[in-house]
Amino acid sequence: MAVRYYEDQRIFKLDTKNTTYMIGLTPEGYVGHVYYGDYMESADAAYLLRTGEHPYTPSVLPREKSSFLDFFPTEYPTGGIGDYRESCLDVRGEAGSRGCEILYDSHSIRNGKPGLKGLPASFGTDEEVMTLEIICVDKVLHLKVVLSYSVFEKEDVITRNVRLINEGEEHLRIEKVLSACIDMDDEEFEMVTLTGGWARERRIQRRRLAYGRQSVSSAKGGSSHQEHPFMALVTSGTTQQTGRVYAMNFVYSGNFIAETELNQHDAVRMVMGINDEDFCWNLRGGEEFQAPEAVLIFSGEGFGKMSRSLHDFYRNHMIRSPYLHKKRPVLINNWEATYFDFDTEKLLSIAREAKKAGIEMLVMDDGWFGKRSNDDSSLGDWTVNEEKITGGLKYLVDKVREIGLEFGIWFEPEMISPDSELYKVHPEWAIHIPGRAATESRAQYALDLSNPEVVDYAYECVAKILRSAPISYVKWDMNRQLSDLGSAYLDRDSQQELFHRYVLGLYEMQERLVTEFPDLLLENCASGGGRFDPGMFYYSPQIWCSDDTDAVERLAIQEGTALIYPLSTMGAHVSDCPNHMTGRVTPFETRGHVALAGTFGYELDITKISEKDREMIPEQVEMYHKYNDLVREGDYYRIASYRENHKYDCYLVAAKDKSEVLMTFVQVQCAPVFHGKKIRLQGFDEKSVYQLDGTKQAYTGEMLMKGGFVIDFAQGDAVSRLYHFVRINR
Ligand code: DGJ
Repeated sequence: MAVRYYEDQRIFKLDTKNTTYMIGLTPEGYVGHVYYGDYMESADAAYLLRTGEHPYTPSVLPREKSSFLDFFPTEYPTGGIGDYRESCLDVRGEAGSRGCEILYDSHSIRNGKPGLKGLPASFGTDEEVMTLEIICVDKVLHLKVVLSYSVFEKEDVITRNVRLINEGEEHLRIEKVLSACIDMDDEEFEMVTLTGGWARERRIQRRRLAYGRQSVSSAKGGSSHQEHPFMALVTSGTTQQTGRVYAMNFVYSGNFIAETELNQHDAVRMVMGINDEDFCWNLRGGEEFQAPEAVLIFSGEGFGKMSRSLHDFYRNHMIRSPYLHKKRPVLINNWEATYFDFDTEKLLSIAREAKKAGIEMLVMDDGWFGKRSNDDSSLGDWTVNEEKITGGLKYLVDKVREIGLEFGIWFEPEMISPDSELYKVHPEWAIHIPGRAATESRAQYALDLSNPEVVDYAYECVAKILRSAPISYVKWDMNRQLSDLGSAYLDRDSQQELFHRYVLGLYEMQERLVTEFPDLLLENCASGGGRFDPGMFYYSPQIWCSDDTDAVERLAIQEGTALIYPLSTMGAHVSDCPNHMTGRVTPFETRGHVALAGTFGYELDITKISEKDREMIPEQVEMYHKYNDLVREGDYYRIASYRENHKYDCYLVAAKDKSEVLMTFVQVQCAPVFHGKKIRLQGFDEKSVYQLDGTKQAYTGEMLMKGGFVIDFAQGDAVSRLYHFVRINR
């Protein structure tokens, strides 16, 4: 049983294969955090709540209640009553004052896990997951707070979410509702986050935890390029294989906050949820609010174990797409090939050449609709521009399919250009503040997705195109962050619901899309990887990782992404050189090897690249077909990081049964050492013997992991090698 309640101790014990999480109740009903860490057999842990110590609990010493509240390790802190640390729940009542205190009321334990209304959420069968709901009540506000914990035993993951139910008649204003909190004692923690910018997404950042609050967040409407809804606290010196890692990841694609506070008592509080900046939700009598899900994980064996567990968790319990376990077609996208300068003939010429090279799908990117010939206009006018797409879309799709390729198409459904037919008719559909010219970004505004009529319109635009021709793939883009938060649809008191309602509108559109077109391959994108988060996995099995396709830059971006997300989710393409973003020239072979770690495809004008590069494509496509099952389904091990050593990068994927291993090595900067680099590997079975593909050389797993593997020396920067080891005995 993954979840048990020990009545005598008033302890809930949540067990996964390798971890235990314990929650305890005080005599008054405060819900306390007892323990999170390595698996423990025993549940005799109530003493860890330290309610016997000074300061005493309020029923014993009411005069010191505020000291108690400011010290007690709580599962779900509420604001306004004397806990001065970061709160998870701030509620303002009709009297205008803010204060909330929740105490245990009852609980339930069940197999399986219910879905979250309107939100993406992890799922599992009755055998795979168990759910504990602790129902708490604020008797003054008549507010019920349901703390929900779902335990995924096999993947060592616990997910949490919170539901608020107003059981009274008072109009409550929810000014903050986060999804999870872990209160712990400090262990000399370091904080690990993913940070970056456009074309520099999700780089790993590590710093010593300091006294006070330190946070990462987004208030941009999406989960953002700059910060990521992920935070880990790790004991100092944590490596890939050793150290204690406590991490949280948020299943949400809008504004978030992840924060840790180290306080006067050397206690640490880590919280995560919807960013409370410009957030306020009206909860009237009888209404409910569902906060999104947070994913919690503990690894006692460093980052590597955490990464592999999270990869399994997202593959097994978040991604619903029928493509999850399938090879995705090798695609060629015309964005970096042509930008806006294309027509039917150009696309067909790319398709013909692509077919010869073994490529399987053509994706028509931005610029096929309205009068769009640059990024100044037409978002919202999703009618085919027949001056460019001569013969119409159906004709083009049929022709591409005749050539032998599938067809994919780009959309940016959440947006509206001021220069569009749609804006002429419905300027009020753009998010804006009345009387103020809204700030343009890439010459566009965002649509007000809190308005169901807008959601219907935007969805129908996409669906109509998909119904008109046999289209296999959609790239759903989003190229601006939100500003000027004003909705012509919402009333005055509900304006601060807009950020969240926008995200709900987005989820609703994507839910409709995958329901109406169950066989569609959906790839999400937001100016590259500006909305690469677990919420989007619920709808699409892959997300465009970054607009930076430079192989060297991609090493750091893909390393950070793969710290938590499976390789099968990372949109990665081979592009032309000099790279359009960095001007760097890297070998075509290296670009192929780096893209193999993701979904794999091309982003170049195949009719114009050098003969030498073009000739390598069939070989690369073959490589993709040979290795993708392993890359998509295997266990990821990070061996060395260019980001840390400034010389080379190395990672490998091992089959779950350890029968084969694919290792990638990229020598970013050549050092004239004239002998091969020796690297200790991971992920092999010690006792098995492996043969290096293409050679007669055999190694035991033990040798490779303890002794190391010697990389052949090669001259040149950004030179890469792929090593495939196959088990030849057991
Ligand atoms: C941003 C995306 O990341 C690119 O791949 C491309 O689709 C452009 N938008 C098109 O505007």
